[in-house]
Amino acid sequence: MSVPGPSPAGEPRASAFDLAGLLSARGHEALPLMDRHVNPAMAAVLRTIGFDQNYVRGEGAYLFDNQGRRYIDCLGGYAVFAGGRNHPVIRDAIRQAMDLNLPNLPGVGTPRLAGLLAEELVRIAPGDLPKVYFASGGGEAVDAAIKFARAFTGRPKVVFCHRAYHGLTVGALSANGNHEFRESFGPLLEHTREIPFNDLRSLEHALFDDDVAAFIVEPIQGKGVNIPDRDYLRRAKDLCRKHGALLILDEIQTGLGRTGRMFACQHDGAGESWQPDLLVIAKALSGGYIPSSAVLMRDDVHAATFASMQQCSRIQNTFGMNDLAMAAGLATLHVLRDERIVEHAAEVGGYLRERLAARLAGLEMVKDVRGRGLMIAIEFGRPASLALRAGWSLLHKLDESLFCQAVILPLMNDHRILTQVAGHRLDVIKLIPPLVLSRADADEIVEAFDRTVRACHRLGGPVWEVGKKLGAAAMKRLAPARKG
Ligand SMILES: Cc1ncc(COP(=O)(O)O)c(C=O)c1O
Repeated sequence: MSVPGPSPAGEPRASAFDLAGLLSARGHEALPLMDRHVNPAMAAVLRTIGFDQNYVRGEGAYLFDNQGRRYIDCLGGYAVFAGGRNHPVIRDAIRQAMDLNLPNLPGVGTPRLAGLLAEELVRIAPGDLPKVYFASGGGEAVDAAIKFARAFTGRPKVVFCHRAYHGLTVGALSANGNHEFRESFGPLLEHTREIPFNDLRSLEHALFDDDVAAFIVEPIQGKGVNIPDRDYLRRAKDLCRKHGALLILDEIQTGLGRTGRMFACQHDGAGESWQPDLLVIAKALSGGYIPSSAVLMRDDVHAATFASMQQCSRIQNTFGMNDLAMAAGLATLHVLRDERIVEHAAEVGGYLRERLAARLAGLEMVKDVRGRGLMIAIEFGRPASLALRAGWSLLHKLDESLFCQAVILPLMNDHRILTQVAGHRLDVIKLIPPLVLSRADADEIVEAFDRTVRACHRLGGPVWEVGKKLGAAAMKRLAPARKG
C-alpha cells in the first residue's frame, strides 16, 4: 500500500478508500473469514442449515443475494428496521450529519442533537417520563436502568420473569429468564429473583419484603411472543407502587411501532394514562444503521443518581449521544410519523396474522397463531395422531428446537423467506419483519407457510427429511465432545 505524500500544493493527500471495490473483491469470503476469525460455530450452523447466502443488498422488507434473488426478511436484523432496510430519508439524514462536519462527541460540552432527540422521545412516550439517558446497546441501557432503580430505592433486589430477555451484558444477563444464556457465566448479580410471566400472585410474593428495587418486564416477551393478560402491566405497576419498587418496562424490541402502537404498553389493557417508572428502548431507534438505546425515566428517579454536580457523570458511556445515532433516531421518528408506519404495522400485521390463522386452522400440529402488529408467532404442538407423534417425539429427542428448524429451512430454501425460532426449546416461529412489509408480501408469507406446514403433516415428507438431516448433523457435532 502506498503512503500518501503531500499534494503538489503542499496539502496532505489521503489515498481514497474504496469500500465497494473491497466488497466486490472479497465480499464472497464472508463465510471463511467468519470461520477463521469471528465465530466458527456460527459459521458451521449457517452452513448446515443453508443460511449462508451471500447477501449483497437490502431494501425495505427485502434482502438480495449475489444471484439477484430476493428474500422476504421476517427477521429484520432482530427487529431493528422500523422504516425498512436502507430507508432513503434515514440514510440521507446520516449523510447530512457527516457533511455538516458536526462537533461530534464534545465530551465535556453540550451535544446539539441529543437534546432534540430526547425531547422527541419524551413527547411520544407514555405518561410523564421527562429525563433520558442515552447508550448504544439494549443490554447496556438495561444495566443503566437497574442502576438508576437501585440508586433511587436504595434497595438491591431485581425481579424478572421466566423467559425474559433483556440482553447479555452481565447486569441484563442476571435478569435473563432463559438459562441457556446464563450457563457458565456466573456468578451474576446477587439479589435477583425469577418469577413466572403474567403471574401477579408471584409478583406480589416477590415484592412482599419491600426490598425490591425494580421489577423488569417486557410488555410482550420476545422469546416465545408471550402476551400477558390485558390488565397485567397496570396491576403489576400498582403492586410495585404499593411495595416501593420501580417498574422498568423493556420496550427494546416492542417499542417504536413494532406492535402497531408506538409502544406496546399503549394497547388497551394498560390504558392511555398508564406509564412505567423507567422505559427502555433501542433497536428501531438506530434507524437500522447506528446502534442507539435510551432509558426514559421519572424526574425523581433520574435526580437520585445525578444528585449533585459531583455526581453528574456517575452513569455515562462514550458513544451514547454520538451525532450519527442521534440523527438516525430523529430521522427514524420523522419517518414513522411521515409515512404512518405505526398504523401500517397495525394494519398489515393484523392482516398477516388473520390470514395465517385462517390458512393454518385445523392442522393438528398448529397450536396457535398470535401476536400484535408485526410481532407474530406461529406455535406448533404435539400432534394427536400416532404416526405424526412418533416423528414429533423423535425430532424433539434429538433437539427441542429441531421441529421449527425443519420448518424454517424449506421456508428459506423453497420460498426465500427468512424466519427464526423464537427461543431455545420452543416450538414457536417468530416473524418480526421491517414494518414496511406490504400486503402482497404478507400473502407470499401465508402461501409459503401454508405449503410448508401442510407438508410437515405428511409423515416422511420433506420437512421430516430435513429434520432428520439436521438431527444427524447435530449428533455428529456432539460426538467428539462426548468422547472427550
Ligand atoms: C426485549 C429485549 N431487551 C433487550 C435486548 C438486548 O438488546 P441488545 O442486543 O442491543 O443488547 C433485546 C435484544 O434482542 C430485546 O429483545
